Amino acid sequence: MSVLSQVLEPLGVTAASDQAADVVILHHVPDPELLEQLRSGTTVVCTSSPDVLAALGVTTHPLPARPSHDPLVADPVYTVRGADVEFPLSGAIGIECDEVWATADGIPVAGRVDGLSVLAGRWEDAIADENGALFWARTVLGKADPAVEEMLNTVLTTPGPHVDHPAVDVIDGSSWQPPAAPQDPINSSDFLRAVAHAGRTLPGPIYDALVDFVDDAPAAGALLLKNMPLGDLPPTPEDPLLADKADQVSEFSLLTVGRVLGRPVGYLPEHGGDVVQNISPTRRNADRQVSTSSKSMLEFHTEAAFHPHRPRYLLLLCLRGDPSAATTLCSIAAVIDTLSPRSRAVLFQPRFTTGIDESYAGGRSSARSVQRPVLYGDPESPKMWLDADLMQGTDPIAQQALEELARLVREKATGVTLEAGDLLVVDNDIAVHGRTPFTPRFDGTDRWLQRTFVVADHTAADGSRSGRVITTRFIA
Ligand SMILES: [Fe+2]
Repeated sequence: MSVLSQVLEPLGVTAASDQAADVVILHHVPDPELLEQLRSGTTVVCTSSPDVLAALGVTTHPLPARPSHDPLVADPVYTVRGADVEFPLSGAIGIECDEVWATADGIPVAGRVDGLSVLAGRWEDAIADENGALFWARTVLGKADPAVEEMLNTVLTTPGPHVDHPAVDVIDGSSWQPPAAPQDPINSSDFLRAVAHAGRTLPGPIYDALVDFVDDAPAAGALLLKNMPLGDLPPTPEDPLLADKADQVSEFSLLTVGRVLGRPVGYLPEHGGDVVQNISPTRRNADRQVSTSSKSMLEFHTEAAFHPHRPRYLLLLCLRGDPSAATTLCSIAAVIDTLSPRSRAVLFQPRFTTGIDESYAGGRSSARSVQRPVLYGDPESPKMWLDADLMQGTDPIAQQALEELARLVREKATGVTLEAGDLLVVDNDIAVHGRTPFTPRFDGTDRWLQRTFVVADHTAADGSRSGRVITTRFIA
């Protein structure tokens, strides 16, 4: 559902033929009778269609794109021209107008042509901002009306409908007969080459699901493979850095799947750059926001949200489960339509920063990232960049929007309690993850996962990598 629909429906403005309304959305060319009715009132016509505008007698034409940061690339921001003024408009058409209005910060615009008010282009998100909403209400009415503005504010801050979290697809991997895992070091070229070749031996349903996952990730943002080969397992280590396995079967399983998805990589601060990291609870980290914690609720996060080369995929292979430790998961698809229109609009704006994870900065760091949006990409099906622990809004409205999203993520999340042989694949661009608390026993039977990170193209980190290990350094 678009922001526009969420705003207008509670106001009783839905149909193109509802000439009694103040605002009419036209997706199709109106009939001549309706056109006359529109002209005779104080109606504002909303449309993104040049054909509709032409039928209304509004002259439109493609405007020359303004140069962006790259002079060879067209900036998708165009300009609407009035008699004496120009304002930027996110849209693909220009309108020759007698009058043009804009907010104080120049974001949304409307024009008046032959007595008809027109809002055009991608202005829906702009009206959901606090200033844009006031401008919009006053443009529609031709004057300030506190009652309408209060109603509009209520609409903009009211959540949308509840949406169930999409189910995570499950595929059985018990029929896979993998080749023998090599004895080469796991970070070595030989081991990584062997897993690339082993991808050819995966059962068809698994291989196809992984290819589809890369091409067009499912709405859940995750995929669960069950009964994957693990080999012989020693007791769970008390220190994950001291794991001592007799074979490398589980690592081979994990990296074979990862290599079909892209390029498995390690990050130097994470277990010294190991491409496969062991994750088991430690006494020292029990209450911290790190993967080796246990008693704390691991807050929802995009993996390495602060990192310029953060992974595209996160893979978790369970060697030994714990029934009380659920891996929590929330896809953007579960929350996007439930966000209030205002928060949804604000989350698309660069009004947020993140801090650095403790494990990368060697402790808590006060350094902050540049300002970025939390939601980005396709407005109807965006990607999400979120860390409920480390991120902040740069102003009160932005902070409010961030808190609304974090609350929805907690409410809508699904949980996967990983069992031995389960391999969970997460698309780090569209789903955030966390973990529920559990109580470790430190007796060799505790929960034990292996993790790998996958990027689409490891050469993107050239200059900040050594082979498959990304070496970006952070400010402490
Ligand atoms: Fe994580």
